[in-house]
Order: sequence, then C-alpha cells, then structure tokens
Amino acid sequence: MSLNTGAEIIRTENVTKRFGELVAVDHVNYVLRENEVAGIVGSNGAGKTTFFNLITGYYPPDEGTIFYRGEEITRVPAEKRVEMGMMRTFQLTSTFDNLTVIDNLILSFFRAHRSASLFPLFLTTRRRYRGEEKIVKTLETFELQNEADRQVKHLSLGEKRRLEIAMAILAEPKVLLLDEPLAGLAESEIKEVLEVLSKRIGKQTLLIVEHKISKVEDFLERLTVMHDGRVIADGKCEECLRAPEVRRSYWQIETPADGTDG
Ligand SMILES: Nc1ncnc2c1ncn2[C@@H]1O[C@H](COP(=O)(O)OP(=O)(O)OP(=O)(O)O)[C@@H](O)[C@H]1O
Ligand SMILES: [Mg+2]
Repeated sequence: MSLNTGAEIIRTENVTKRFGELVAVDHVNYVLRENEVAGIVGSNGAGKTTFFNLITGYYPPDEGTIFYRGEEITRVPAEKRVEMGMMRTFQLTSTFDNLTVIDNLILSFFRAHRSASLFPLFLTTRRRYRGEEKIVKTLETFELQNEADRQVKHLSLGEKRRLEIAMAILAEPKVLLLDEPLAGLAESEIKEVLEVLSKRIGKQTLLIVEHKISKVEDFLERLTVMHDGRVIADGKCEECLRAPEVRRSYWQIETPADGTDG
C-alpha cells in the first residue's frame, strides 16, 4: 500500500471513552500524517464525533494516550490545542450572520493574527484589511468573491459552509478537522464544497467525518471505518469498502463464511 509516510500529526493509542456502560470509543489506535486527506465514516452512533472530541480535547479519554506532532496532549485543554494548530469547524461555525462575508473573514484573520481585545479594533480598522492578500486569496479559493459584501444571513447553506471552512483555514491550522461538513447540503453544494477543499490538497492536513461513504469516496485518500466505537477498517477507500467486517457492519451485507466475496 502506498499510503502517506509524512510526519505524524495526530496519534492515538488505545483511546477509550465511556458514557456510563456505553463504550463510545473503544481502544482506538489511529495515526494522521501531514497533508493527508483522510476520512472517518461509520453509521450513527459509531463514535466518530466522540473520537473528534477526544482528539480536539473537548473531553479527556478514560484510557489511552493522544499525541500531537510527537508531543503527548492527552490532558491538554481544547483552547490550547487550537493554539497549537488544531482547528475544528464547529468551534468556528460562529459566523456573524449580520456581518458581511468579508467582515467575517477579516474577523477570523484578526483572531488568528492578533491577540488582545480585537473586536473594537476590528470595527475601526476593518476597511484596511479588505485588500489583505490572505483575505483576497481566501475569497478566491472558496469562490466567495461575488458574495464578499453580502450579509451572511442571506447566503445559501452551501455558501455558508464554504465560508466556515474558509474562516477556519485563515487561521492557518496545522490540521483541520471537519465534522460532517456536507450535512444538509444539496448535491451541487456538496460538489462545490469538495471542489474548494480539493484546492487545499497537499497543503493542508484534513480529517473529515462523514456519515455516507458515497459522498466522499472519490475525494478521500484514506478511509477509517468505525463501528460500535471500534476501528474496523483503515486504508485506501476501495480496500476498506471490500473488507468483510465493513460489509457486515456498515453495509449490512452478509459475507460468505470462508471470507471470499463471490
Ligand atoms: N455526551 C454524551 N453522553 C452520553 N452518551 C453519548 C454522549 N455523546 C455520545 N454519546 C453516545 O456515544 C455513542 C457514539 O456517539 P457519537 O456521537 O460519537 O457517534 P457518531 O458516530 O458521531 O454518530 P452520528 O453519525 O450520528 O453523528 C452513541 O451511542 C451516543 O449516543
Ligand atoms: Mg457525529
């Protein structure tokens, strides 16, 4: 298998999370490497979001260890992980719906590149940032040039999703984690979101959670399939989709007892 051999960005060892009796994430070993475009799929309740929450520090695991670029971060708080370069879209879905697209981007740029009480500063200096190269480029990459001066509340869901991802990318994260970025979108909007994301391939480490494999199988280089908190397959998409356990658990297709798939 010629999978990515870049530097490790995220590693989990035996990571486990229980909610009472339920084992939501069950001894998961996982490695995400630099510039990988990877996905986690699995049926409802498979543990995908819980696993994301563990990686991003939303809560600590009951067992196991998490590493970020070689450093142990098992108990490092979520805000610190963001500072370290781990970005997750839901934390930034806080688009300001009464502001324009470009002002949302400028605000994100401020958040990423300046510290102290930014909002008053943003209000007085935002005009100056309209021409900022990174912002102009981001508008182009995410095909939002024509929407720059529209208020976010008037965007379609697909445009808004693209803006959310654009805002996350402006912070220049080392790794971007997207939990169901395609949820609720129409076919054409899914295509648009994947198209803008594909412009980041090779420049951005990406981990995407998606419920339906069919939406992302052409986009992802690598797939991890979860079921009942466990990883049941990990590798190239085609190989994962053929794995007997995936057929049984995810597709609910009975595989012949001898393991051949006739
Ligand atoms: N905060 C919580 N308290 C109790 N149980 C939880 C909590 N969060 C998740 N669970 C349970 O853990 C299991 C895994 O849930 P999780 O949300 O991680 O699944 P998922 O793979 O993201 O599913 P979906 O495709 O529906 O988003 C489910 O059985 C869920 O009900
Ligand atoms: Mg989920």
